[in-house]
Amino acid sequence: MAVNLGINIDHVATLRQARLTIEPDPVAAAVLAELGGADGITVHLREDRRHIQDRDVELLRQTVRTRLNLEMAAAPEIVDIAVRLRPDQATLVPERRQELTTEGGLDVVQAKAGLQKVVSRLKDAGIAVSLFIDPDPEQISAARAVGADQIELHTGPYAEVSLRPGRTQPASIDDRLRGRFVPGTDQVAAELARLESAARQAGALGLILAAGHGLTYWNVAPVAAIDGMHELNIGHSIIARAVLVGMERAVREMKEAMGGAVR
Ligand code: PXP
Repeated sequence: MAVNLGINIDHVATLRQARLTIEPDPVAAAVLAELGGADGITVHLREDRRHIQDRDVELLRQTVRTRLNLEMAAAPEIVDIAVRLRPDQATLVPERRQELTTEGGLDVVQAKAGLQKVVSRLKDAGIAVSLFIDPDPEQISAARAVGADQIELHTGPYAEVSLRPGRTQPASIDDRLRGRFVPGTDQVAAELARLESAARQAGALGLILAAGHGLTYWNVAPVAAIDGMHELNIGHSIIARAVLVGMERAVREMKEAMGGAVR
């Protein structure tokens, strides 16, 4: 079955906020991403509002024709906004003020009681709930226990080892542009094995499986090929390419790269 691609458009808003102006508009970016074949639009409404603003989420709720996935901390103010706007899905993530981007998955084991309340409040509002977690057996069991519908596996560590220069390089620039990736090192294999084992556990527990963070045109294929994978959420790599070639083409090329698994 084809894997769905959710496009994280936060970085379109990052560019706008760099000048505190009105362009580029993430709402326009979402329309073009959908025209390029996106299966969903993801935005992270951070508590510090560093990129996506409340106005963006409100407009996206009205304009997104695929699925709107709201990434968010389990913070009361943001949960209230989610319950009011009712995105199709909420993805709970940890949030730290100083981080450049989300670092590490949620500690569901430690925050179980609080998360359980947030998950049921969101689900009662008709919102599907995904938890962004590390591919760790205890976290996956805890995600099931707090009532999540889906888990999004943190692919950051996989991305780290698959991108390090001199370790695992795409065979050529041409391969890189076509999204072909040559899994070359033990570290890459080990990270993929962790993701695959997490995927099996999620399947056994009846959790829908997603993954994301740090995925690019040349490291995405093996993750897209993991058995049971339902959705990938990708932001930086697609927006970086969209700046050069346009959003529709950047999305289309990522979908092609997801289909070209080299295992
Ligand atoms: N999934 C989650 C939960 C994230 O926090 C992010 C980053 O905002 C992404 C996916 C996308 O990561 P990237 O921008 O590295 O593709």
